[in-house]
Amino acid sequence: MRKRPIELKVIIRYFLGLNFVRQTVIAGNWKMHMTCAETENFLKDFIPLIENINTNRNIVIAPPYTAISTFASFSDSMNLNIASQNIHWEDSGAFTAEISPVMLLEHNVKYAIVGHSEPRKYFSESDEQINKRAKSAQSNGLTPIVCVGETLEQRERGEAERIISRQVEQGLEGTNSSDLIVAYEPIWAIGTGKTCEAEDANKICKLIRNLIGYEDVVIQYGGSVKPNNIDEIMSMSDIDGVLVGGASLDPISFARIANFK
Ligand code: 13P
Repeated sequence: MRKRPIELKVIIRYFLGLNFVRQTVIAGNWKMHMTCAETENFLKDFIPLIENINTNRNIVIAPPYTAISTFASFSDSMNLNIASQNIHWEDSGAFTAEISPVMLLEHNVKYAIVGHSEPRKYFSESDEQINKRAKSAQSNGLTPIVCVGETLEQRERGEAERIISRQVEQGLEGTNSSDLIVAYEPIWAIGTGKTCEAEDANKICKLIRNLIGYEDVVIQYGGSVKPNNIDEIMSMSDIDGVLVGGASLDPISFARIANFK
């Protein structure tokens, strides 16, 4: 693996004696896309494009479960981490269609997305279940990426902050803030091409940081992140990374996002 340069802000913080350095986490959520053959083609094209990325940028992909093992043959070539798209709180049992932490650990999975708006909407996931999944991830050594976000109707009624606060309080109860990622994904911006204004997204991310009360918690923005808006999004003070759907399926566009300026 080629050694990557260290980002300037990391060096400055080190010499100033500031011990907080938030990780940058650029994650792709492939949802129900990509066969093993497509994954292999993607990785062959994608890995050379992220070889020179800064050391404090973590690049993560959440493939469908069937494609996770395809990553194994590429694991030596790059610091590319695998996330699961969900996680159960039990190690095994009669839970049809669920995936256990033990099964994920066997495949070197490092992160687990929980509480995405799609399972919340289509499978009525509750904040209580999401909380159990997040705690299960942490107790098994996986970092949960806990998604929160409001619908368009809630935003238009002026309820966005109240909804986000409830999701944060209930979903994160009893979790360890130093091993946690929260993804702010306004539902109306997912897959619609409508990005939340960067300043607005930053305001909500700051609210989430304040609610958690831990300055270094990593907070991502998700919802129609593309190569043409990533630089502005990543220039915001409280946005430490992104959770990308559609644009993460194409190696060139996801590499441009990972190499944001
Ligand atoms: P899009 O980037 O396609 O809007 O999806 C966002 C998302 O749901 C990531 O989890």
